[in-house]
Amino acid sequence: MLVFFREALLSNIVLKGISKSFSGSPAVRSLNLEIEESQFVTLLGPSGCGKTTTLRLIAGLEDPDAGEIFIGGKLIFSREKGVFIPPEKRQLGLIFQSYALWPHMTVYKNISLGLEEQKLPKEEIERRVTTVLEKVQLTPYRDRYPSELSGGQQQRVAIARMIASEPDIFLMDEPLSNLDAMLRVDMRAELKRLHYELGATTVYVTHDQVEALTLSDKIAVMMDGELRQFGSPREIYHYPTDLFVARFVGSPRINTIPGALARQEGKLLFRSAFFEKALQRTFDFEGRDVIATIRPEDIAFSTTPQSGWLEMQVYSVLPAGSETIITVRKDDLPLTIKAPGFADVEMNDHIWIDFDIARMNFYHPQTENLIPAA
Ligand SMILES: Nc1ncnc2c1ncn2[C@@H]1O[C@H](COP(=O)(O)OP(=O)(O)O)[C@@H](O)[C@H]1O
Ligand SMILES: [Mg+2]
Repeated sequence: MLVFFREALLSNIVLKGISKSFSGSPAVRSLNLEIEESQFVTLLGPSGCGKTTTLRLIAGLEDPDAGEIFIGGKLIFSREKGVFIPPEKRQLGLIFQSYALWPHMTVYKNISLGLEEQKLPKEEIERRVTTVLEKVQLTPYRDRYPSELSGGQQQRVAIARMIASEPDIFLMDEPLSNLDAMLRVDMRAELKRLHYELGATTVYVTHDQVEALTLSDKIAVMMDGELRQFGSPREIYHYPTDLFVARFVGSPRINTIPGALARQEGKLLFRSAFFEKALQRTFDFEGRDVIATIRPEDIAFSTTPQSGWLEMQVYSVLPAGSETIITVRKDDLPLTIKAPGFADVEMNDHIWIDFDIARMNFYHPQTENLIPAA
């Protein structure tokens, strides 16, 4: 079911060389980003990396120091060309971490207020509010005040208010971060369904990598005001372009193993202090030190000896119901293994492990950039 009352004008967003500093310290550095129409794109990164600033620049709540912004092919900001389209003319809907509902207004009034300000006919306002309340399943709550609602319901009012104004673009800044953990997971499904039904171009900000992976068509990973990688969740997860992205995405954290790429009897090997393994791919990086990465779920383990597998002693076992995290140590190197369900392993047990070599990536030890297969 679609709740839009007109076809949304599908708008792409293009940022070209956008920079923004606050009193001399850069918050966003020369950012280039192309968000296709109808896409759900997440800005992901640690606190202070420039996500909110980027969103506010798109919204027009801040002006870039340099660069250009296009929405739907139209130039909406360029300092050089003297173009500045104000926020209210950018056809955007915004949701922030605090829902910013008016406490003295009912749910109905909180949603209708903006529509009244747009001077829409009364019947149109009634129709839109009724439809969006239905959409977010708050029809029985239309006459309640925000203080009479749970956090999740308040968040849904904020979402309803955004939808009712029928923006072409949704901008959301950590909209789930004030909700408790269970509700946050439920709301992810709601937001994803909403995007599926409305198809509005969405820019979503979060520091939560699981949220980014679960919701997005594409993820823009940021660090220190810079874009580190822009790709699908699959690309970001399986082919992080640098070690920062590799470590930031995925829980438990990715394993890193120092070693070297070496050729022996015609075969290319990854060789570390305690094991070596033949590779099926080739790299223009032979004979050099690398850092290998492997995700915890890409390490197999057995409680009985397997030929060619590495014997390890269990350091700790963390069962979590759906999975068990097992940590092992070899010399100073810790490794984390993720096994499904309750694994039959005890502290100090000897286990045998094997790496899914096709899933191993290699990084330059100094630049920390991905070494592409040749
Ligand atoms: N209005 C502001 N005035 C001064 N510094 C700011 C302002 N807004 C953001 N900053 C700074 O810019 C950097 C990026 O902030 P922000 O975009 O809010 O990061 P994030 O949303 O990723 O946590 C931070 O160092 C922050 O302190
Ligand atoms: Mg922020």
